[in-house]
Formats: sequence, structure tokens, C-alpha cells
Amino acid sequence: MALHKGKGDRAGGRGYALNPFYGEADPVAGMATEPPRDRLPDGPMAPHAAYQFVHDELMLDGNARLNLATFVTTWMEPQAGVLLAECRDKNIVDKDEYPRTAELERRCVSMLADLWHAPDPAAVVGCSTTGSSEACMLAGMALKRRWALANKDRYPAGGARPNLVMGSNVQVCWDKFCAFWEVEARQVPMEGDRFHLDPEAAAALCDEDTIGVVAVLGSTYDGSYEPVADVCAALDALWERTGLDVPVHVDGASGAMVAPFLDEDLVWDFRLPRVASINTSGHKYGLVYPGIGWALWRDEAALPEELVFRVNYLGGDMPTFALNFSRPGAQVAAQYYTFLRLGREGYRAVQRNARAVATTLARRIGELGDFRLLTRGDELPVFAFTTADGVTGFDVFDVSRRLRERGWLVPAYTFPPNREDLSVLRIVCRNGFSLDLAELLLADLDALLPELRRQQAPLGRPERVETAFHH
Ligand SMILES: Cc1ncc(COP(=O)(O)O)c(C=O)c1O
Repeated sequence: MALHKGKGDRAGGRGYALNPFYGEADPVAGMATEPPRDRLPDGPMAPHAAYQFVHDELMLDGNARLNLATFVTTWMEPQAGVLLAECRDKNIVDKDEYPRTAELERRCVSMLADLWHAPDPAAVVGCSTTGSSEACMLAGMALKRRWALANKDRYPAGGARPNLVMGSNVQVCWDKFCAFWEVEARQVPMEGDRFHLDPEAAAALCDEDTIGVVAVLGSTYDGSYEPVADVCAALDALWERTGLDVPVHVDGASGAMVAPFLDEDLVWDFRLPRVASINTSGHKYGLVYPGIGWALWRDEAALPEELVFRVNYLGGDMPTFALNFSRPGAQVAAQYYTFLRLGREGYRAVQRNARAVATTLARRIGELGDFRLLTRGDELPVFAFTTADGVTGFDVFDVSRRLRERGWLVPAYTFPPNREDLSVLRIVCRNGFSLDLAELLLADLDALLPELRRQQAPLGRPERVETAFHH
């Protein structure tokens, strides 16, 4: 969430512009004063007028379906919309009040435990969250507490400083976790054409204060899967050599809802004994509107008991682990609906379609000759590309800006250390971004390329390039 500063219009800034139709019934005797925008109005106004003010302003937001920057679901079936509306008054934390919502949450955890091959699904502990960021915070907290319990003699009194090992391509939530919970972030930089975590380099950064290694399935920067099994193997070897036993958390924000359906032979989940916990975003390839995420731990040993708070639930005992207290319950109902509605085969068909769109679009963009593909959309249905060698008249920021003129949001950004020299465009293909829409995008790109090719030099970067990319 952006941090906002208050503005206040006490100094006489203009309020909303009035329209005679906003009067209750008589356009002549309607509203007389402009309602302020940055200060609570002195009195009420008619609902239709308030609606119109807000609605009109929001018309200028981008069209969510043309937003190829976000991983988050922008289309669901009408029935899901009905369910969401029916449940919008339910607070997930009121387990006594809404026991069936709590039960649907439990069933979703159980389904994910099975999907992610937990050796003993009954031993898995898990919960819904607002998204992957909260899920990652919870997973990181569990890793830190496990390490602290095993190092009581050295922490906190002994001065030991916990660290977490990851690639420099991790999503910003892991930087946040480390900053908020005072954990040193040990990041393996990108190197040459390796744009994500290297297993040996990760193991080399581990020491007795490493609370865990984060492996990402797949990378937010380019959609590539990190080699989770190889990371575990490198840590197994480290354990044999040194006795250091470092757990792995898999950040499957997107991939944990793609790989189980499209890459069944890829071993990345609880089949690997070193994987202690996994998160995913229900609102990304879980196919639910924002905000829902999931965090699962292999067993109770992976989630220290002291972090779990218990609430009485219909005479029973309901363990909870969350940063928030109140949160919408509707998304849980929508997630359960989607699981029930699609089943494995349905998810497979939807994700296969997204991957087909991504690989086709990537190939066609590659064929234009002006671009070089870094990934091809064959892992996450996401690909990154940059300008081809020899293209000097325009850059990825120009392309992003020009596509925006036609309504497409395609972010351009620079890569993290050590590849800050590399700037890319990234396209996220989601359910609802059909081949038809992809062809319209291609046609628009094709139409603006002749002008771009005539440019003498790139037009310069937008002032706040980094804001283009935060999903
Ligand atoms: C790998 C990864 N982890 C975590 C997140 C944060 O997810 P959320 O937006 O659900 O909080 C993202 C978002 O794109 C991501 O790609």
C-alpha cells in the first residue's frame, strides 16, 4: 500500500464540481455547495450523488483486464461474484459466528496439502491470509522462531543475528520481512544469464544463524522457476558436511497453483523433506479476486506452538496464526467455490490455456526482430523481454509508454543486482487474457514499432521507474 500524505482543503481548494442532476428530485434546488474532497464533508448527501462522484473519478483507473503487469485475478465468473457479494459482511475472524466459512477455510487447506503432496496431510497446519505477503511474513516468523528456539543460548542475549538466504530476485515482501523482523537479508545476486537463485551460492551463504532459504516458484521478475530440488540437494550436502540443517520455504505465490497442474513431474513441494512451508496467492493463479493467500507448514514441528493463538470455536479449540485480526471471509468462500468448480482438470485446462497464450505471444514478439526474449512463458505463463542487440533508437521504457497510450499496461523495469544494466518488459498472461486479446496487443505493438524505429534515441526514463513493478 502506498503511504499517503494528507492534503486538506481548508485553505480553499476546490471541492467536487456540481451537476444540477445531483439534486434529490429538482435539478434547480439541488446541491448548492461543492462537497470537499480531502476533508470529511460537514453533512450528508444523497447516495446517488455520492455514488456518481466516486464512480466518475474511478473511471480514470486503468482497465484491469488490460493490465498485463499484475499477477492478480481480474476476471471471475458471475457466480463467484454473487458468492462474494453474499459473503461480503462476513469477518473471517468470527469463527463462532461463521462456522461454515471457517470450515471452508479448513477444507481449502486440506486440498492444498494434498495438492502439494504433504506426506501426512492430517499433520499439515495452514491458514488463509490476505495474500502472499502476509503468508510470507508468517512463514518467515516461523523460521525465525524455530531458529531462536534452537539457539536460546546465543539469541537474543548472546548477540547472534539471524539471517535469511534468498536470490536478489525475491519479491519485495521478503525485503519487508527482513526489515520488519530484524533479520539480515542475504541475497545471492544475478549473474550473467542466471536471473534467479543458484543452489550452490545459496548454500555457501548459510551459516549457523541462517533461519532458512527462500526458493521462489516462479520469479516475479521473469516468470522462471527456481530450482527448488537443487537448492534442497545443496542444503542436504551442506548438512552432511557441516551439520547445519537449514529449512527451505517455497514462495509459490504464483507457481504453487501452476506447477501442480502443468508440471507434475517437477518435484518442488512437500515431497522434498527439506521444504518446511509453502505459500501461494489464492488471488493469483488460484483464480480468485484480491485478497486471499495461503500458508501451509509441513507439520506442527515446522510451526512453533508459541506463535499459534487459540480461539474457542463452537466449544472446540481453533488455532489461529495471522497478522490481521478482522479480514473479509468472502474470498475464502470464493476460493472454495473455485476449487469445487474447476477441480484438478479444470485448473489444468485454465493454466494450460494461460501458458499457451504466453508461449505464443512470446514467440510472436521474438519474431518481430526488435526484441530479445529472456524467458518464453513456458514456466509461469509470464515472460520478460528486452530490446534486441543493435536497437539503439528506443528502449523498453519507450515501448511501455507507447503501449500505455493504447490502454495496455506492460511494465518496464531494471533487474536487481548484479544485472541492473538490464531493463526489461514483462507480460503476465492470466485467465481472461485470451489469444484474441493477445493478438490485439501484438497488432498495437506492430503498429507503433515503425515510429519507435524512427526515433534517434530513447526518450528518457519516466521519473519513477520503480513504481512500474511491484507485484
Ligand atoms: C514470488 C512472489 N512472492 C510474493 C508476492 C506477494 O504477493 P501478494 O501480492 O499476494 O501479497 C508476489 C507478488 O507478485 C510474488 O510474485
